[in-house]
Amino acid sequence: MDKIRIKGGKRLKGEVKVSGAKNAALPILVSTLLSRAEHRVLNVPKLMDVATIKRLLNHLGTVIEDDGQGGWTIRMPALTRHEAPYELVKTMRASVLVLGPLAARFGEARVSLPGGCAIGARPINLHLMGLEKMGAEIQIEHGYVAVKARRLKGARIYLDLASVTGTENLMMAATLADGVTVIENAAREPEVVDLAHFLIRCGAKIHGAGTDVITVDGVESLDHSCSYRIMPDRIEAGTYLTAAAITRGEIFVRGCGPRYLDAVLQKLREAGVEIGEETDGVRAAATGRIGAVDIKTLPYPGFPTDMQAQMMALMALSDGLSVITETVFENRFTHVAELRRMGADINVQGSNAVIKGTRRLSGAPVMASDLRASASLVLAGLAAEGETEISRVYHLDRGYEQLEQKFSNLGGKITRIT
Ligand code: UD1
Repeated sequence: MDKIRIKGGKRLKGEVKVSGAKNAALPILVSTLLSRAEHRVLNVPKLMDVATIKRLLNHLGTVIEDDGQGGWTIRMPALTRHEAPYELVKTMRASVLVLGPLAARFGEARVSLPGGCAIGARPINLHLMGLEKMGAEIQIEHGYVAVKARRLKGARIYLDLASVTGTENLMMAATLADGVTVIENAAREPEVVDLAHFLIRCGAKIHGAGTDVITVDGVESLDHSCSYRIMPDRIEAGTYLTAAAITRGEIFVRGCGPRYLDAVLQKLREAGVEIGEETDGVRAAATGRIGAVDIKTLPYPGFPTDMQAQMMALMALSDGLSVITETVFENRFTHVAELRRMGADINVQGSNAVIKGTRRLSGAPVMASDLRASASLVLAGLAAEGETEISRVYHLDRGYEQLEQKFSNLGGKITRIT
């Protein structure tokens, strides 16, 4: 298995271009299941999760031409299978996004239950409750969830938690339902909005995406062919800005405007990082020691849980005491033990991590068990004295395009060992 080796201690400097957002690409590509027309999707990031969704879509009958430059021509002429098998779902929970579109267009879907994963139980009860409200019959057997519906009906659906993929699944299903669907306490993440914009371009009638009430007026078909550019990855952008801070360098992240990054930029500023906002990007620069700040993860527009681990690496080198509270997932501190092995002083009490900043971290062999935890170890490794070797690199490949090249271009000493 591949490893990433980092020689820490270099100040990172320069410009990095942000890729298309993984969490927008996955639902947008899946949503093409709803349409007979051919679409052109641009800025598709080259990531393992995207390759998994491609395999899943191909398995269902989707025809995809990938130009190798992030441009996909994609159409779904006829369903060949209505099942998302365990082999594909187990590597990527977002496969569950096919449920809504398959049920809506073809009246039938069978998807392996995702089960537990490294960052908590992550159930899909809200996805199923919403589909049931829309008239679908749901059965769980042999580790699969089977959904059947003649035609979904519009419904009023309140989500107990503002689930991101739950909102996306139900919004997609509602586009072809008979009548009006109202999703209350909907997720407000920019990726939900990006999906809504794509669906609207295909002919869907959606109002309120980006607020906590989304209204979808069902249509007969979504057959407007369109060309659509996926939004930039705000988590990737945030990770590179944090890299500037942790290495006391200066990085301009091009391609992701500040409007998606409010909560992250505010925390970086509070920590003493100089932030420059431009229309096509954000600059971060740090010189002295980083200040300690408290952080609480929340659904958008709150501080993103997907940036929590990276900020913890930064706080490990801060000049004081900080508390990071994780409220979105119940088990998202797996990076703590590894950061401690690098010399960080962190104590976890329930959903709080108390971090006493130290002056230096020291490189060590480490291993991470999820995507963002791995990113925090990369940041810690870039700032640490000596050599850090990170195993289980496949986690990083799920969500960071050309990670080593991008960090190398910024002056980082980072290589992949195969
Ligand atoms: C998405 C993102 C992920 C991000 C997360 C939170 C994608 C592909 N992934 O994941 O990167 O970390 O949002 O911003 O977009 N929950 C339930 N029942 C459900 C669904 C969710 O109880 O049916 C709970 C989850 O366990 C969790 C919380 O709701 O505690 C939020 O999860 P959710 O927003 O659904 O995360 P994902 O959509 O899986």
